Amino acid sequence: ARIEKGGHRHFMMKEIAEQPTVVGQVLDAYVSPDAHGIMMDLEGIDFAGIDRLSIVACGTAYYAGLVAKYWFEHYARLPVDIDVASEFRYREPPFAPRTLGIFVSQSGETADTLAALRFSEGKAARTLALVNVPESSIAREADVALPIHAGPEIAVASTKAFTCQLTTFAVLVVKAAHARGEIDDAGMVEMLTDLRHLPGLMSHALASDELIRAAAEEVAEARDVLFLGRGQMFPLALEGALKLKEISYLHAEGYPSGELKHGPIALVDKATPTVVLAPHDGLFDKTVSNMQEVMARGGRVLLVADARAKDQAGSGVWKHITMPDAPEFLQPILYAVPAQLLAYHAAVAKGTDVDQPRNLAKSVTVE
Ligand code: G6P
Repeated sequence: ARIEKGGHRHFMMKEIAEQPTVVGQVLDAYVSPDAHGIMMDLEGIDFAGIDRLSIVACGTAYYAGLVAKYWFEHYARLPVDIDVASEFRYREPPFAPRTLGIFVSQSGETADTLAALRFSEGKAARTLALVNVPESSIAREADVALPIHAGPEIAVASTKAFTCQLTTFAVLVVKAAHARGEIDDAGMVEMLTDLRHLPGLMSHALASDELIRAAAEEVAEARDVLFLGRGQMFPLALEGALKLKEISYLHAEGYPSGELKHGPIALVDKATPTVVLAPHDGLFDKTVSNMQEVMARGGRVLLVADARAKDQAGSGVWKHITMPDAPEFLQPILYAVPAQLLAYHAAVAKGTDVDQPRNLAKSVTVE
């Protein structure tokens, strides 16, 4: 088993460590080597002829879709509805004309996501699946299936499938932005060139493993943990909280930073760590004031950010995890790595069954 795990103690750590490689595989599959073109067979789906996207998924795949919503709306000016599959299928939402349905599933067998796909057939203009298992039910039943090229994912808590879903979405977003005239050829080459830097940036992020382990050992002593993120980093706050819940059994909540004052700040005391996922961006000064509100109540802030954000954050931050500078577009993919490592090491510190957490299944094929 040690060999299957590539020298790691758990499949989860092996899968976290594989991310520079598998994300590279996604890029090799979908981006031309010179970063001048996209090689993605969408079987006639043309984003110029689509007015709306409807993304449906469960769990971690849902959070990948939520990041994609920020991207599609920002870069391609394409409105996106997003639902968890169990809500979507029973709400029976109306479809706007020229809606593309997108279904995201690592296994391709999640019962609610499959049912949502079946509900959408004949109502959506076309259906597109992002799957890791190409021979799965969802891949077979969708009009078009795009593999996310993560390779087999064994640990119940999803890691590399998430970043491969995001990378596949990122290429789709560039394609959509270009097809809709939101970026020109040069803009497309720039975004694809940025994407080509991802594997190197992720390796760099993995190098923070020891620092994160030390922080995680202290976080593991808490009962509640808060994760904050703003904009495209908000779904990462949700994913960071989900990972921690799933494998360490700590209670964790992800919130958009600006919502802190509307409820979660009531939880803050010196026993409650707040993990802030906040690369430097145009709204970083607002994040700094959110952190100050936490610190003023005795809360400990773990800031995962680039060096510039670290400098601007000033004193009082409990711990810093410094990420490499990265183009804004790539940040949600890059910041998945520290979120995963934090959950992993907290779970190891608590001595839980990391790869097979209690009460959870890798693939939920019944309702
Ligand atoms: C289960 C797994 C999660 C996964 C979710 C959706 O809850 O434990 O890790 O994100 O199902 O699975 P799917 O295969 O559809 O991506």
